[in-house]
Amino acid sequence: MARALSLQSPIVCLLVCLLLRQTPVEGATCKDCFTHSRAAYYPNSDEHGTDQGACGFGSFGATINGGDVSAASQLYRDGVGCGACYQVRCTNPKYCAENGVNVVVTDQGSSANTDFILSQRAFGRMAQTKDLGASLLQLGVVDVEYRRVSCNYPSKNITIKIDESSNNPHYFAFVIWYQGGKKDITAVQLCETQNFSCKLLDRSHGAVWAVGSPPRGPLSVRMLLSDIDDGDESWVVPINNIPKDWKAGEVYDTGVQVDF
Ligand SMILES: *[C@@H]1O[C@H](CO)[C@@H](O)[C@H](O)[C@H]1NC(C)=O
Ligand SMILES: *[C@@H]1O[C@H](CO)[C@@H](O)[C@H](O)[C@H]1NC(C)=O
Repeated sequence: MARALSLQSPIVCLLVCLLLRQTPVEGATCKDCFTHSRAAYYPNSDEHGTDQGACGFGSFGATINGGDVSAASQLYRDGVGCGACYQVRCTNPKYCAENGVNVVVTDQGSSANTDFILSQRAFGRMAQTKDLGASLLQLGVVDVEYRRVSCNYPSKNITIKIDESSNNPHYFAFVIWYQGGKKDITAVQLCETQNFSCKLLDRSHGAVWAVGSPPRGPLSVRMLLSDIDDGDESWVVPINNIPKDWKAGEVYDTGVQVDF
């Protein structure tokens, strides 16, 4: 477009091109633009993330997405940010690949003005090659740019993992795995499917939703997905129910997936 204009009038181009060039730095109004920040990595020797992550995902939080995971500081958003996906790329052209790495938020944390504490694997994968990845790791903390991207789990439906702390009939807690797309789960309803009554649940901590005295009978978990940018909201209703004899530690496929 700028090129076509430039043929007609170099002066128009001068103005338009300058405007075009400036749009990307207007962070807040620009959905797909990158934001400048810094990233560090977990000091433990494990390549993956941590299975003690604040989101409450357990070992899923360490190994999901091949272990390309991260702790977030303000992007953690009191747990709403759990499961969100970001493209993170470092900016030093000597080491860094153009596309960087896509990570899933599974923990909370910050150090030295960072937005991300990446798994070692994810941190190294921001580099152009494995050798450069080793050099990058030696820097410890690097300048990065990031943006929210869609999570993509092509062979998975949204899945409910019953937390080990659940002891029917007094307490029911779970986390939601494999939410595709780039919206936030901002509310959850637990529905009893035989007499059909629903109640809104509280976020216990991180990505963990919980209720005391869960209804008997098969259960259905409805999720409100919200777009942080345009306020757009929609309820996702599962196809499969959680059977009435659910067990702590088990996973149940909802039969639905989203890509928005
Ligand atoms: C549904 O309601 C009936 C009548 O109120 C009750 O007897 C039954 O236990 C309820 N079923 C479940 C699964 O809550
Ligand atoms: C997702 O759920 C659908 C039913 O809605 C099912 O046919 C499909 O096999 C499930 N996909 C996976 C990967 O389990």
